[in-house]
Amino acid sequence: MREKVILKSKKDTDRLAKKIAETLQLGDVIALYGELGAGKTFFTQRLCKHLGVTENVSSPSYVLMNEYSGKFPIAHLDLYRIDAEEELLELGLHDLFENRITIIEWAEIAERLLPENVKKIRFEFDGSDRIAYFEIT
Ligand SMILES: Nc1ncnc2c1ncn2[C@@H]1O[C@H](COP(=O)(O)OP(=O)(O)O)[C@@H](O)[C@H]1O
Ligand SMILES: [Mg+2]
Repeated sequence: MREKVILKSKKDTDRLAKKIAETLQLGDVIALYGELGAGKTFFTQRLCKHLGVTENVSSPSYVLMNEYSGKFPIAHLDLYRIDAEEELLELGLHDLFENRITIIEWAEIAERLLPENVKKIRFEFDGSDRIAYFEIT
């Protein structure tokens, strides 16, 4: 079932992140889509907080990947700067997925490498509200 959540404030994003954090298990991959400014990194920050991360979570746009530890080890990737799938091979995505929670911003380029049970969330921003679309299984 396709779910649509309107995020009128940061509190709404926080609430959604908490709800999703409660469902996550080791090995889960969360793919985040949406334009610049749509709220992907902020959602990730709240998700990490609800997974017990106490460190500051920042955008990995320049470094490609940040790692955190909370209730699970967490990898946070931003693939915005990747322009060929081959560049992803160096990251060893599959091994990465196994023993942690992996959160991927701009996941389009990695589409074929994502696991079958990937949780996809699409963010849209219309200038005032943000909307999150995702599948509930
Ligand atoms: N639900 C929200 N309500 C208000 N501001 C938000 C919300 N979600 C994100 N923001 C703010 O919007 C800006 C862009 O969000 P960000 O998560 O960096 O976008 P993205 O990673 O998709 O480029 C940030 O300043 C962030 O704090
Ligand atoms: Mg971002």
